[in-house]
Amino acid sequence: MKRDVISVLDLREDIDDILSSALELKQGNDKSGQQLKGRTLGMIFEKSSTRTRVSFEVGMKQLGGHTVYLNQRDSQLGRGETVADTAKVLSRFVDGMVYRAFSHDNVMELARNSSVPVINALDDCEHPCQVMADLLTILEKKGRFVGLRLAYIGDGNNVCNSLALGAALVGMDFVAATPPEYRPDPELLIKAASIAFENDCISEVVMDPAEAAAGADIIYTDTWVSMGEEAEARHKESVLIPYQVNGELMALAKSDCIFMHCLPAHRGFEVTAGVIDGPQSVVFDQAENRMHAQKAILIKVMG
Ligand code: CP
Ligand code: NVA
Repeated sequence: MKRDVISVLDLREDIDDILSSALELKQGNDKSGQQLKGRTLGMIFEKSSTRTRVSFEVGMKQLGGHTVYLNQRDSQLGRGETVADTAKVLSRFVDGMVYRAFSHDNVMELARNSSVPVINALDDCEHPCQVMADLLTILEKKGRFVGLRLAYIGDGNNVCNSLALGAALVGMDFVAATPPEYRPDPELLIKAASIAFENDCISEVVMDPAEAAAGADIIYTDTWVSMGEEAEARHKESVLIPYQVNGELMALAKSDCIFMHCLPAHRGFEVTAGVIDGPQSVVFDQAENRMHAQKAILIKVMG
């Protein structure tokens, strides 16, 4: 049976395994570099990317495989070929696919019609590869998950949804502070809350950023305007101003609190330059970990 990674939940049984494999790969303990020798990863991107694209391309090469990159504009997808037909055709050529899509339904459609594993490289609902890298970063910086408090401040978007699920799966307390109109996905929140209950940790959404930040070990934010939401930018920025992560908010957290952001960042909007460029910020280690975590995921699903 092929193994798709559409949600963080698809890695439920393997999180510990993937994190330890990612650490090993990062430390260079596994030097073979041939785990995916001769394998090809198709990469379909409907949206822009710096980290995801480069980390998958370099990661695949480091494992002995290679990649084929397709964007919406240059492929027939941009001229109306269906996702289902694309899936069936590409399955004849590649051993796995990574898909960054505007719609979650399209990622599901690609997975349903592919005979090879499909990895979600961000859609409007989730960003599972990001969150695996985030968990790796937290483990490296804090050495554990249980007993930690992760406060997500700002827009309840795809990254927030996946973080809520990821935190619950590893038993870490998760509190998001979002305005009522930009809360995370209600269905995913229910799933996260039920997993958190099983794992004896907190999963909640509040309105007040100060309440979420109080005593936090990790403060995390993301852009207020995700790709595809450009038309709403003005309104979102006006509603989200009180949710900016600044020195005052960081001061409410623990003194050894780290600051995380999936990037790209917008200084002066969701975070001040003082915080993201300051001593508590781990954003570039976090970005590097995209590659280590994804190599471990690729080995798991394509190895
Ligand atoms: N964090 C992230 O996914 O970055 P890119 O959009 O650059 O891939
Ligand atoms: N929430 C952002 C993440 C970018 C990596 C977006 O979807 O654009």
